[in-house]
Amino acid sequence: MPPPRIYFDWNSTTPPLREVVEAMAAAYEDAWGNPSSVHLEGRKARALLDEARGVVAQLVGGKAGDVVFTSGGTEASNIALRAPFAHDVGPRGAILLAPIEHASILAVAEHLEKNGVELRQAKVTRGGTIDVDDVRAQLARGGVRLVAVQAVNGETGVIQPIVEVAEAAHAHGAVVHVDAIQAVGRVAPPPGGFLAHADSVVLAAHKIRGPKGIGALCTRPGHPVVPVLRGGAQERGLRPGTQDAALASGFAIAVRAAGISLAHYQAVARLRDRLQAALVATNGVGINGDVAEGARAPHVVHASFRGWPSPELVAALDLEGLAVSGGPACHAGVPEPSSTMTAMWGAHPDEHWRFEGPVRFSLPPSTTSDEVDHAIAIVRRVIERERT
Ligand SMILES: Cc1ncc(COP(=O)(O)O)c(C=O)c1O
Repeated sequence: MPPPRIYFDWNSTTPPLREVVEAMAAAYEDAWGNPSSVHLEGRKARALLDEARGVVAQLVGGKAGDVVFTSGGTEASNIALRAPFAHDVGPRGAILLAPIEHASILAVAEHLEKNGVELRQAKVTRGGTIDVDDVRAQLARGGVRLVAVQAVNGETGVIQPIVEVAEAAHAHGAVVHVDAIQAVGRVAPPPGGFLAHADSVVLAAHKIRGPKGIGALCTRPGHPVVPVLRGGAQERGLRPGTQDAALASGFAIAVRAAGISLAHYQAVARLRDRLQAALVATNGVGINGDVAEGARAPHVVHASFRGWPSPELVAALDLEGLAVSGGPACHAGVPEPSSTMTAMWGAHPDEHWRFEGPVRFSLPPSTTSDEVDHAIAIVRRVIERERT
């Protein structure tokens, strides 16, 4: 029998928990009604939706009435980022972010820029964090309305200084948007929860073993949100369209489990470090992102393989049974280096070889020592084969 496949791509997506699948199947059997309907069928679906809203709100330190369910993280950020710049006739102010943000933030910022909003880019350190001193300097120039900062970078796993950035932004009257999608259930939340620091926070169920097709935009009470779509009163009119209560119930179960998964992820750091040590010992491999203890999510190691085009290496590893990513999923098939890699290494020409073969290993919290040994053996086999 061939050895079981190893799925080290948990930052891309995660397998839904069995309890999630079961709860969703039960909901599709019993609570399939339209949550906006007043009859019993509708009320059953509404009850699931309301319960899920409370569970999600609790996760980020918010209130159920301030949670908007969306199709995922991308849609949630699209809604959140536009609001501070809506309804303007005069100067539109600036959005400040670092180029290591996910495409769902960067692309909206670029769209806003085309529509008269000033786009300011904060510097990025070699370790892969937003440069807080530069954020302060850019805020001091005035005019910034919104600062977007991710909690954890999806490629390198580097944890971002969201508390410091939020403090600086608020001191200058800017609102703060946090993409917490790669942080939840994997690294400890900031003191008081995400909404103690951010005005808006986005989540995606599929990164925490929930279903695809649902995410959430959570805001502080009173924080203005403007709908992108028009057409109905669902989700307070902020995200019109009939809601899927089964997806919401699966999301709620995944959120509850995310509280427990923190400790399991922490335990993976040791195995991740073993994989990293083996990669470092391989000729022509460099690790991207701050490797100091506690600087990264515990399950991620991002490495560049000199001389390897990323798609070829990822395909070769896949054929041997190891699933990893060459970049963020939204970037797949795009030949240029990702904005995160460019931001970290663009100013260092000696390091440009790192753009060639970046590979992200993102381990499950259940990783075993045998799986890591097996993954190391596969990487070595593939690299050696190419050399001979
Ligand atoms: C940091 C980050 N933000 C946003 C997203 C997009 O989320 P979704 O796939 O739910 O739209 C992802 C998914 O890869 C991500 O890693």
